Amino acid sequence: MHDVPLLGVGVNRHDTTPGASRKVGREVPGDGESHEGKKNRGAARRRGRHARRRTCRRAVLGWCPVTQASRDWWRDAVIYQVYIRSFADGNGDGEGDIAGLRERLPYVRDLGIDALWINPWYPSPLNDGGYDVADFRDIDPRFGDLVQAKSLLDEAHGLGLKVLLDIVPNHSSWDHRWFREALAAGPGSPERARYIFRDGRGPDGALPPNNWRSVFGGLAWERVTEPDGTPGQWYFHIFDVSQPDFDWENPEVRAEFLDILRFWFDLGVDGFRIDVAHGMVKNMAGPDLPYDESGLLDRPSIADHPFFDRDGVHDIYRGWREVADSYDPPRLYVAEAWVEPAERLARYLRDDELHSAFNFGYLKSAWTAADLRRSIDDSVSTLASVGAPATWVLENHDVERVVTRYGRDVTAAGTGHAGKAKGPVDVELGTRRARAAALLMLALPGGAYVYQGQELGLPEVLDLPEGSLQDPVWERSGHTERGRDGCRVPLPWSVSGSSYGFGSGGAWLPQPAGWGELSVEAEDGDPASMLSLYRDGLRLRRSIPSVEPLTWIDETADDVVAFQRGRGFACVVNLGATPSTLPAHREVILASGPLDADGRLPTDTAVWLAV
Ligand code: GLC
Repeated sequence: MHDVPLLGVGVNRHDTTPGASRKVGREVPGDGESHEGKKNRGAARRRGRHARRRTCRRAVLGWCPVTQASRDWWRDAVIYQVYIRSFADGNGDGEGDIAGLRERLPYVRDLGIDALWINPWYPSPLNDGGYDVADFRDIDPRFGDLVQAKSLLDEAHGLGLKVLLDIVPNHSSWDHRWFREALAAGPGSPERARYIFRDGRGPDGALPPNNWRSVFGGLAWERVTEPDGTPGQWYFHIFDVSQPDFDWENPEVRAEFLDILRFWFDLGVDGFRIDVAHGMVKNMAGPDLPYDESGLLDRPSIADHPFFDRDGVHDIYRGWREVADSYDPPRLYVAEAWVEPAERLARYLRDDELHSAFNFGYLKSAWTAADLRRSIDDSVSTLASVGAPATWVLENHDVERVVTRYGRDVTAAGTGHAGKAKGPVDVELGTRRARAAALLMLALPGGAYVYQGQELGLPEVLDLPEGSLQDPVWERSGHTERGRDGCRVPLPWSVSGSSYGFGSGGAWLPQPAGWGELSVEAEDGDPASMLSLYRDGLRLRRSIPSVEPLTWIDETADDVVAFQRGRGFACVVNLGATPSTLPAHREVILASGPLDADGRLPTDTAVWLAV
């Protein structure tokens, strides 16, 4: 690790003192400027290019509200995803919980991230890992309770961390009170009108209303038995049969979710990740779909899809934005929307809709310079057109761990969904690439996400015993796809001991032999570990001038990704087959692996440079 004076290494980006501003080497306030003005300029620096266009002049004039910086914290934030069931087990029942997370908050803070996003913790039968919610205003007892949740929020805030929750508006669990009432009330009732019930086709209604399929495999329709015991209507479920879809045409559903948002915002939650944000609005009169028999779980990519990315969904988000903006500071929304092309995604991020969205196009890019450059350019420019920052994602609880994904022959991973790819994996190669990918991601303008365990370099667990698989995809695909459990295996905290320090009562998914070698204890303090790379990268990232756009460095070879952020900082990644000469620089700040004897950048290696 080398210090780089120009970048002001060690200067906290959130530090608005005059000294800190000077070290960044840009936009140093003039001597006659007030402290307030300097603070305002700091705020402007933290916003993206688009925002700078709109607000810097105000800041210079000295009337930009000083709270603006804290309002825009998310524009270049790094958000750490906590899959709570697998993070840390505080009560020894084999499943992670709020108590475990509270104990480990200092670890998360010390990583150098800005916020947590916690996967669903609501009461749930966990048929789909908690994305089957039985009560949107409570916490499953296996994870804790509302009092503990409040303490967690307070403690995280005390450590300077924001907290986002996961909201699941497309569907509920079949254990939700509303769904039980719908089943009991029968056809035509207001209780059924909260979900999507239809009569079947054929003389006795025994055929499903149409051929639409569930994302998890099989039909997207399930027939119910009516209260009088006769075979009855069908209900629609994009996902598992235990996840009935709400009818968002129903004003009661809309009002209910506005109230749920307020419930959590009032408790102190800073925002929501919105599950299947491109679902909700449907055209139930749409035609049968042309499924490709070879790709059972792949949805047809057609224009005017009857249940994904329909224009009507934007009205919902305008209402949600009003709720978020009625709080001080305003609350944040992040969309999980598997929508392409980037122009369609940008529509979710218009001024009066959501703030940010996961960049799955980037996650799905092949590990080639051309693909990465194209994806970066597309993301930055398209999102800038609506004033939104780009985000960068390599992993989450649905996709194959990057160490494994990048260790495959073909790195263009299709949807990236865990449990789909087959064939050999070279974990050493994948790890080298994942290290380079981490530095690339953290150097890009905008926000970034880190999924728990990514910072340890955990691989996908590909050989979980079949009997332990819990993802509904395994059953619904007729045992042809193993699903996503392999990226959800409980974290190793210590080299040895019960469940490698996850908890005292074992782990709900079996951890593989050798898991302890990738534990926090094993990697802590080892300068060559993935954990050290992430900690260093996250710390040094704070001194990259966040307002500076990306400028490609053209002098490097085609299979090298190289760019500058402002005058002082450059990132170079070699994806070619031979070592590459570095562009002119003053110092190497951080490298994902050693340079060769001639100071050249080896294959699958990234560096940050002071230039
Ligand atoms: C999202 C979640 C995934 C879940 C699905 C259904 O894609 O990330 O885990 O299975 O929605 O809620």
